[in-house]
Amino acid sequence: MNYYIGLMSGTSLDAIDAVLVSFPDEQPVLHHAINYPLSESLRNDIRALCTPGDNEIDRMGQLDIVLGNTFAAAVKQLLTDTDIDAAEIHAIGSHGQTIRHRPGLEKGHCFTLQIGDPNTIAELTGITTVADFRRRDMAVGGQGAPLVPAFHATFFGRDAHARIILNIGGMANVTLLPADTKTPASGFDTGPGNILMDSWIQQQQQQPFDHDGQWAASGTVNLQLLDSLLKDSFFRLAPPKSTGREHFNSGWLQQHLDKFEHTLTPVDVQATLSELTATSIANAIKKYAAENMELVVCGGGAHNADLMQRIVQKRVSTTVKTSGDYGLAAEWVEAVAFAWLARERLAQRPGNLPGVTGAHRPVVLGGIYPG
Ligand SMILES: Nc1ncnc2c1ncn2[C@@H]1O[C@H](COP(=O)(O)OP(=O)(O)OP(=O)(O)O)[C@@H](O)[C@H]1O
Ligand SMILES: [Mg+2]
Repeated sequence: MNYYIGLMSGTSLDAIDAVLVSFPDEQPVLHHAINYPLSESLRNDIRALCTPGDNEIDRMGQLDIVLGNTFAAAVKQLLTDTDIDAAEIHAIGSHGQTIRHRPGLEKGHCFTLQIGDPNTIAELTGITTVADFRRRDMAVGGQGAPLVPAFHATFFGRDAHARIILNIGGMANVTLLPADTKTPASGFDTGPGNILMDSWIQQQQQQPFDHDGQWAASGTVNLQLLDSLLKDSFFRLAPPKSTGREHFNSGWLQQHLDKFEHTLTPVDVQATLSELTATSIANAIKKYAAENMELVVCGGGAHNADLMQRIVQKRVSTTVKTSGDYGLAAEWVEAVAFAWLARERLAQRPGNLPGVTGAHRPVVLGGIYPG
């Protein structure tokens, strides 16, 4: 069996997703998947590096190695669970942990930075590791993100059915797959996914996330706050566009809350944040997608019942499914996509979609670190 491993640690910092996958007939088969925990101190170190601060080079250099060790440990756990030998794994695709994503700098040079040393992963596991996927796309004028649309197009676009793939992670992004498979797919980040809801419930109730969106569902949307949040210029930008923690974070939220001088209850803020994610997604779809494309949701946000209900209520599509309906559980799609991107890299096939990232041309993505 020609196995690949995908490693994804997204903006939510919920856990490392590690998947063991193979691609018979060009379609992914998921053999095993785990959430490998990130310790609280590791999470804090990552969060601290996501915004400018003191002594960043030393802190980044060390965290790069610590994360490389942690990613390798996740791989070993996956192999132990499945009793599969490292020699049977063709390659690991490791996204790395984004600590800065600056695709739209008006002055200066755009850049994106993912850490989690692939040399360490390759050395500790003995498995060839592919990493640093985003920067080659930037080198040809792209935003380096989102990169999952090429995988979405391969997996969800093969039967000539118009679909929107909506990934709700820390940020949210859409891939628009036209029915005519000769027309290239498009896609972009729509704005925050779970990140603001996660940070608000963490701050107010010391919970990592709002389970099934129950807290948000018990509140009332504050329309003035919603309006203020929706005025952010990112929502008005035309694609290609991508965003991250450096833009949508608890400080951004607080700036808006400050205008209300404590007149809001925490539960209503949570309801409004859920509505913000749903509204910004729906507005983007209504503006850029053809009518009545089937909507397929993936990412952790697919498990947030309140958020899903709000999206359904916006009537962006008469058919709303999750990736699970197509045999790939919502929480593993991104990690599988990076296993697939590693396979594309080794086969010297391009992994970016210029219509999505804004790159001048398709390019082969990622560096190879032999096992
Ligand atoms: N049962 C659930 N109820 C509510 N929210 C959930 C549930 N399960 C997962 N989530 C949300 O999904 C988030 C994790 O999603 P995911 O792993 O897709 O995001 P990520 O790691 O940020 O990835 P990326 O940003 O790269 O897409 C959690 O932080 C949480 O907000
Ligand atoms: Mg995650």
